[in-house]
Amino acid sequence: MAAGGGFLPARQQLDDEAEGLPSRQWIQVTEQRSSQWYAGNDRNAYLHRAWMRRGIPSDAFDRPQIALANTASDLTPCNAHLNEVAESVKMGVYEAGGIPLNLPVVSLGETQVRPTAMLWRNMAAMAIEEMLRANPIDGVVLLGGCDKTIPSLLMAAASVDIPAVVIPGGPMLNGTFRGVPLGCGTDVWKLSEEVRAGKLSEKLFLKSESSMIRSRGHCNTMGTASTMAIMAEALGTVMPGLAGTPAPDSRLLETAHETGKLAVEMVREQRRPSDIITKESFHNAIVALAAIGGSTNAVVHLLAIAGRLGIDLSLDDFDRIGADVPLLVNLQPAGKYLMEDLFRAGGPLAVLQQVKDLLDPTAVTVTGRTLVSYLEDQEIWDRDVIRVREEPLIEEAGISVLYGNLAETGAIIKPAAASPELLQHRGRAVVFDSVEDLHERIDDPDLDVDATSVLVLRGCGPKGYPGMPEVANLPLPKKLLEQGVRDMVRICDGRMSGTAYGTVVLHVTPEAAAGGLLGLVEDGDEIVLDVEGRRLELNVPEEELQRRRVPDTTAGAFAAPSRGWEKLYVEHVQQADRGADLDFLVGATGPDVARESH
Ligand code: FES
Repeated sequence: MAAGGGFLPARQQLDDEAEGLPSRQWIQVTEQRSSQWYAGNDRNAYLHRAWMRRGIPSDAFDRPQIALANTASDLTPCNAHLNEVAESVKMGVYEAGGIPLNLPVVSLGETQVRPTAMLWRNMAAMAIEEMLRANPIDGVVLLGGCDKTIPSLLMAAASVDIPAVVIPGGPMLNGTFRGVPLGCGTDVWKLSEEVRAGKLSEKLFLKSESSMIRSRGHCNTMGTASTMAIMAEALGTVMPGLAGTPAPDSRLLETAHETGKLAVEMVREQRRPSDIITKESFHNAIVALAAIGGSTNAVVHLLAIAGRLGIDLSLDDFDRIGADVPLLVNLQPAGKYLMEDLFRAGGPLAVLQQVKDLLDPTAVTVTGRTLVSYLEDQEIWDRDVIRVREEPLIEEAGISVLYGNLAETGAIIKPAAASPELLQHRGRAVVFDSVEDLHERIDDPDLDVDATSVLVLRGCGPKGYPGMPEVANLPLPKKLLEQGVRDMVRICDGRMSGTAYGTVVLHVTPEAAAGGLLGLVEDGDEIVLDVEGRRLELNVPEEELQRRRVPDTTAGAFAAPSRGWEKLYVEHVQQADRGADLDFLVGATGPDVARESH
């Protein structure tokens, strides 16, 4: 930081000197990070100011410089409206005496980016982190929406640790098709399974396409985008009450305006991510995750954000804190309604009000007030959408963490999205080595599989794919679908879309490509799933496993990129139980930049 506190607004000082006025006492202003670039009358400060002087007021360089880290992109359709939201933020920043600065950042469209958006989450987080640190800014408003955008923004802001506040772009309105609501994501899986089972014509299936995405905004189910918006609010990084506001709702713009003002206040009070994102706020996020029936993807994202701040968060915390929390939100994929209904029924804060006693009362938010202080006057307006504590949708809804020889460092399952009768299961493995292998053989009439089989898909972890795609809810064999089978136990080292459902064990660690036992499973092996006992076991004698280990065909059988981001990623990505972040990005680096090249 600039030594010695304040400085005279540069323009004023130069004007005084030009007029031969005696040197005045330097005006004491709040010391701010951007003064490292703009304060003083030397050549470097001149350079930094001169190029930014494009009609902005002469005292602009003494005001808080607020970046708008904006993931708006036409190729991220869920976030395309964020430029309009940014205009409201700017008004708020100006109104509070700050200077808003556009900072377009890497954006990831979940449905568009190949081979999987998760491969690029860490790249986006790293690029955003470096641009926040490299530029003369004092605070940042983070505009995100689609699945990976809020996680990457939060990972970046946590690493730099300058005042930061999130604006979730909001869900789209309910889709409707043939008179019934259509949830994006969840209903794509359902309708496509109906086509494969011969219950829905392809013509009608294609007709539903234009009914699904009815407005601006991100997916309207309790998928990853909705979940991460609510996680950001439960962590305290969103102006309380904003998460879940539909993207077309004018209240989004109103709160964006207020958030712009808040960002300036946060800089003046130096309220930083490390003051807000704490072990206590993760506790609240995990309670919220269970109560809303949120996406399993939140586990890897929360672990990665915690890693950036050096907070000791583990898979076991999700089970310990969240397992007994009731599911109170009746939204797809676990339930019936969509995000627009949740907002109408009272929104995420009304849900948290029901589990207030389970929350940590000390965790503060971006406003400086505690999260629980916002819950007093929350009401539920539709008790079928948001259940009261005494009438939950499911008694215990959290994510369960499984261990065993198939998952030595853990795997997870979301019982709320699973079939209760499959939560204790013993079956024969049917193994697929890759997504391509799966697609080639799953519908083969000769595939040796029945409804009790356990489908195993490997090569889908962070290193193996690479990028840990959302493929764990692998499709059921067509011949079983035709028999009326709608769920089977599935095990995978990849992730599952937050909009998906089924008895799926996912995020298996170590993954097959990192030497996990998953790589040694063969067709016909017995696998035991015991969710109540938190076990996932491969019933194969140790001698046989030793035989399969030699020669080691596991780690070498997966992708080994030779250049670019993929090479860096594969060499440094951690396993899912550590948030799948790169090992050298763990731990906060802070906002300082040591050198200046001018
Ligand atoms: Fe963007 Fe679902 S595709 S949130």
